[in-house]
Amino acid sequence: MSKLALLGGKPILKKPLPSYNSINKEEELAVAKVMKEKKLSDFVARAGEYFLGGKYVKELEKRFRNYFKVKYAVSFNSASTALQAAVGALGVGPGDQVITSPFTMSATASAILFNNALPVFADINENSFCLEAESIKKNITPKTKALLVVNLCGGTPDYDSILRIAQKNNLKIIEDNSQSPGAAYKGKCAGTIGDMGVFSFNFHKTIQCGEGGILVTNNKKYAFRAQLIRNHGEVVMDDLFNTGRIYEPILGNNFRLTELQAAIAIEQLKKLKKLNQQRIVLADYLTEKLKEFLWLVAPQVDKKSVHVYYVYPFRFLGKGIGIKRETFAKAMGAEGFYIHQGYQKPLYLIPIYQKKEIYPHSKFPFISKDYPQKVVYKKGICPVAERMYEKEYLSTAICQPPKTKKEIDLFVKAIEKIEENIEDLREYERKM
Ligand SMILES: Cc1ncc(COP(=O)(O)O)c(C=O)c1O
Repeated sequence: MSKLALLGGKPILKKPLPSYNSINKEEELAVAKVMKEKKLSDFVARAGEYFLGGKYVKELEKRFRNYFKVKYAVSFNSASTALQAAVGALGVGPGDQVITSPFTMSATASAILFNNALPVFADINENSFCLEAESIKKNITPKTKALLVVNLCGGTPDYDSILRIAQKNNLKIIEDNSQSPGAAYKGKCAGTIGDMGVFSFNFHKTIQCGEGGILVTNNKKYAFRAQLIRNHGEVVMDDLFNTGRIYEPILGNNFRLTELQAAIAIEQLKKLKKLNQQRIVLADYLTEKLKEFLWLVAPQVDKKSVHVYYVYPFRFLGKGIGIKRETFAKAMGAEGFYIHQGYQKPLYLIPIYQKKEIYPHSKFPFISKDYPQKVVYKKGICPVAERMYEKEYLSTAICQPPKTKKEIDLFVKAIEKIEENIEDLREYERKM
């Protein structure tokens, strides 16, 4: 039995594993072409030919429409701004509530706050880590206008139930699909199941262009409002209003993607299917191997959905092994395998929600005459999200190429080594 690296033995990995990288020659050539053409952006905040951006931005949007079989695609300089525009496109504002997940990147909920509406946090499902339909139901009030559903880690929630609730209560659905490009539910691409879907191209994502995002929808009005929000809509509306267009109340910004980023994203989209497939093969292999450990729960993917493993999420059941999650992660780290614990503190527990404060002189929008019902942000409101954060959720990048089944075998070997040395680890914990 070899000694654990955490306790002074030799690590399983002799050198760090290679990181994921999807940027290659194709992207280099695409950038060189744009540079040669010398038009790095081609947006003008005025009604007319350049209101919708340059040729690469338009080409990217066309390719997204075709790939995801939607009528409209509107690119943005991030998913954060695309989410903000999606909420704004619905016309959601002061006095409105939007139900979302607390187990997500803060940008999801901030998109609601930027529109002066209030996020209401519903709990998640312990298998999908995405919103749980029953909890959504309990959080609906007369002020609820929409659901901002997050497709986390590369997976999706149970959309059958969520769509039923939305329909019954006349709620719109925005999908934050930043982490799940190429995932599917009942044969439909994630991001195209609700009224609008948002994708991220930040540099951590399966496909990226440094920073960037895109919104897809089949709704003409939402697409138009999103375009206005992307490019200083208030001044563009002035042009349009003066030429007879029906007035849209709108406040825009500069949320525009550059031609350079769009050219990279075009190349990346071409690779999406293959990149996802590589992850799925590795993830399925690891899931099979993890069955050997009764104290670890591999992702439980609904038969109706396709998971694309932006990260590989799994759960740690401390009772089954008699050590803390932190000790397990530390021991794996010492063997050379970084494991991420907890993902994200449930958002209602971060200071902005605890203090209900965005501005130094006002509690708006948290406390305002627009909100007779108080929204509650206290510990205990989403017990599953809290349990995932505090005790169970883990994720690894081991299923991302260029890593192979060989590295996954070593990862599993490290877990086996921990099981073999469990008494020593328990002793280590007692001394800590
Ligand atoms: C679920 C989720 N939503 C939103 C975002 C924000 O994306 P971006 O960095 O493109 O603004 C991220 C980014 O990590 C994310 O993971």
